[in-house]
Amino acid sequence: MIQAFKDAYKRQDGLIHLNNAGVAPWPTQTEQTVHQVAANLARGGAHAVGAMVEKSEEARSLLGAFLGAQPNQIAFFQTCAVAISQVAFGLQLPRGSEIVVFDQEYPSNFYPWRLAAERAQGELKIAKSTAQLATPIEAIEAVVTEKTKVIAVSWVQYRNGAILDLEKLAAFAKARGILTCVDIIQGAGLLPFDFNSSGLDFACGGAHKWLTSPLSLGYLMMKPEHVDRLEPLAAGAMSFGGFDALSDLKTPRSSGVARYEPGGRSILELVGLGETLKLMSTTGVQMISSEIERLANNLARGLKTRGFQIHSPHGEKIRGSIVNASHSTLSMEEITKRLNDAKISYAVRPPGLRLSAHAFNTDADIARTIEALS
Ligand SMILES: Cc1ncc(COP(=O)(O)O)c(C=O)c1O
Repeated sequence: MIQAFKDAYKRQDGLIHLNNAGVAPWPTQTEQTVHQVAANLARGGAHAVGAMVEKSEEARSLLGAFLGAQPNQIAFFQTCAVAISQVAFGLQLPRGSEIVVFDQEYPSNFYPWRLAAERAQGELKIAKSTAQLATPIEAIEAVVTEKTKVIAVSWVQYRNGAILDLEKLAAFAKARGILTCVDIIQGAGLLPFDFNSSGLDFACGGAHKWLTSPLSLGYLMMKPEHVDRLEPLAAGAMSFGGFDALSDLKTPRSSGVARYEPGGRSILELVGLGETLKLMSTTGVQMISSEIERLANNLARGLKTRGFQIHSPHGEKIRGSIVNASHSTLSMEEITKRLNDAKISYAVRPPGLRLSAHAFNTDADIARTIEALS
């Protein structure tokens, strides 16, 4: 079964994709469907757009089914940062509010909250990771006060893959009446996730990493009681009467998630996401997840035998995918040169080099990478 998943990504270009925590390639079927829809739109214009919009709408229910939410709890945006900003600014936090983030958040999950805290004349409180960059709930607990209104942290951290215990987070926040908004982009598609049983208030993500779909597509999942709660970031025809309605002072806002989606949608990106989700759902996230972990642990073991130090928040066994490694004698310049020469993608993310295998990677990819760094 996992072989069928790997085959769905088969390419002849000789590239090895080990920066899937950055931007992942798409399955062949996704590429072909996007091409087909692009051709329909390019040639058909207004003749084609209605059917293509309808097709793109499938992505909402497919994403909901994959991540445990109803379609009417999901709004789409241009990127993950916009989805996060919709919550950060849409909550219109009261004066003096405090918001909690970790000290290693990706900028897209840091700056919206910094600005939201500034606008509320409050404070962004920074939870301190451990020396190994782990993200225990105690670190959040240490900076929460009675002024804390939102805990806005990443589920999986982007530099070295630290995983936050979402069950503990939700229980902790609920007991204190604090809202949770979690950036799940580094976890969705990599680890099992069920929004509606997570107890989280909001979850934000994007399509181009572990969901191996086109760039420029973010999503926001909201608890049902929050769907009509946020002040929209943007407004347009679709967030009011629709394309065919005349502008009018009295037109009410569209209800539900449409109130956040102001105009023509990202049809190609949505269609691409939908197509990949069909493949991922058929394969099953559990199977994808264990294959990723197997590859990541083989990679970490191989690098260790070549003198690399693995910077892991998980101890000996890597959880998830991210392997962050450095070498005492090989410089980062030398390491990246070798990877570039071998056409292996990577990212430099302190404290070291970040390699992030997906389940479509093969044992041969891992062996070639270890060989290149030997
Ligand atoms: C934790 C996290 N959030 C968000 C993003 C991406 O945000 P955006 O798609 O808005 O650029 C990344 C990408 O690296 C990430 O690691």
